[in-house]
Amino acid sequence: MSQNAPRVEVRLPATSTDRQYPIYIGRGTLEQGAILPKLLGDRGVCLVTNETVGPLYEALVLESLGDQRKVTRVLLPDGESHKTLESFGTIVTAALEDQQERSCVFIALGGGVVGDITGFAAAAFLRGADFIQIPTTLLAQVDSSVGGKTAINHPMGKNLIGAFHQPIGVIIDTMTLNTLSEREFAAGLAEVVKYGLIADAHFFHRLLESVDALKRRDQATISEVISRCCEIKADIVNQDEREGGVRAVLNFGHTFGHAIERELGFGQWLHGEAVAVGMVIATRISVARGQIDVQVLEGLVRFLETFDLPTAPPPEMGLDDFMRAMQGDKKVQSGKIRFVLLDGLGGACVTADVDESEIAASL
Ligand code: NAD
Ligand code: GLY
Repeated sequence: MSQNAPRVEVRLPATSTDRQYPIYIGRGTLEQGAILPKLLGDRGVCLVTNETVGPLYEALVLESLGDQRKVTRVLLPDGESHKTLESFGTIVTAALEDQQERSCVFIALGGGVVGDITGFAAAAFLRGADFIQIPTTLLAQVDSSVGGKTAINHPMGKNLIGAFHQPIGVIIDTMTLNTLSEREFAAGLAEVVKYGLIADAHFFHRLLESVDALKRRDQATISEVISRCCEIKADIVNQDEREGGVRAVLNFGHTFGHAIERELGFGQWLHGEAVAVGMVIATRISVARGQIDVQVLEGLVRFLETFDLPTAPPPEMGLDDFMRAMQGDKKVQSGKIRFVLLDGLGGACVTADVDESEIAASL
């Protein structure tokens, strides 16, 4: 393995089988043709991408698959609005028509949308096939490709149909970020800074010091940052794969963020943009409770502003809108909204015990 491609390993605690998978991270991991064939052996492949990412990177992946195996190619339309049962059907039908067997491997090449749908198709295909994630957005590289949550949307809400299904490997090529828009890159950085806040004070400070390198998309800095995010996520998922406890801290900023996405209509703000504001609100509540220094809030706001991420709710959203939208969140338990707050820098706690007045004061 070249120095440019550090390897983070996710090991899940033994349940019925002992599962673990590698995450390869670095510039050129897709061009190092050996990684993908090593994960695949001689198995058939169902390669899923979308009409934006396909023309950019599909050829690179096809090249490393060689011409000895059966390859089913699926090109989905781009966008969250296609994270549907219909796209799921398109993938499964293509694999069935090609007579792929359960031993085949699904490959998701794209952002979180392609990753989530493909993972779910793999989970259901012939009662469960393996899959590999090749995430191409920063958000997918630091979050959605690791941890095994797969899903499609239902007209009644986001990610309402899905499964926990871990990939057999994740290949992150930081080179793919060169074609990502500024806005999508910034949205990914919101999830990046989240890891510092909830799990690693040193990493948070390093991020604040690295804004110039991140703005330049310096490859070494980005690889290092993605590796740390994946380590933190892997560590949390290893402790709690099915979100019965500690995994919920990954939802820091998401209760308020989802409320914004829901109220404005999904797609108006990017997920990371809504989470950015959600983190500011949750940090402000944590400051008011004396659980974190105000300097952390100031540092967070400065970091988000540097990347033109929003730090305040949309002007049309008031307390009532937030409360109504948060009640509709799928993470509400027994009618109680659960909030993730900071408990010291690099620590987080989950509580349902947050007063409306505290929220009102923090919007
Ligand atoms: P996305 O998949 O829609 O990608 C964003 C845009 O960037 C798309 O237009 C895509 O085609 C384009 N794109 C992707 N890679 C590119 C590249 N390298 N160059 C140029 N353009 C590129 O959005 P996303 O932010 O990656 O993911 C959001 C989705 O992820 C949501 O559906 C969300 O629910 C899901 N998600 C899942 C998890 C999980 O744990 N499974 C976690 C977070 C988010
Ligand atoms: N994105 C939150 C999680 O994977 O749990």
